[in-house]
Amino acid sequence: MSMAESGWIAAIEENKLQENSVKLVSPKGIGVLIIRKTGNDIYAVSNKCAHMACPLRGGALDGYILKCPCHDWRFDIRTGELLEAKEIKIKVYKWKIIDGNIYVKL
Ligand code: FES
Repeated sequence: MSMAESGWIAAIEENKLQENSVKLVSPKGIGVLIIRKTGNDIYAVSNKCAHMACPLRGGALDGYILKCPCHDWRFDIRTGELLEAKEIKIKVYKWKIIDGNIYVKL
């Protein structure tokens, strides 16, 4: 089975993702934020807030907590969980690096 058939999609070249940076990518038109803290400490989460679907891009990142720019809901990028109510989540994607590219599993 090919990578694409298994749901893994190339999202960004690894060397385009600096440490402490957030990049919006759109594999297959799905907005995904790729976040690199350091080295392989990388996270891939939906760009769509679980509240009213505002783009999370541009929200403040404090440690592992990403704050939605619209109404300040705060999500843990490691789990996708809303801090105040863990049953509410943004989608978290698996990722892996192959040949210098970061792939996400949609
Ligand atoms: S849309 Fe994100 S907090 Fe309201």
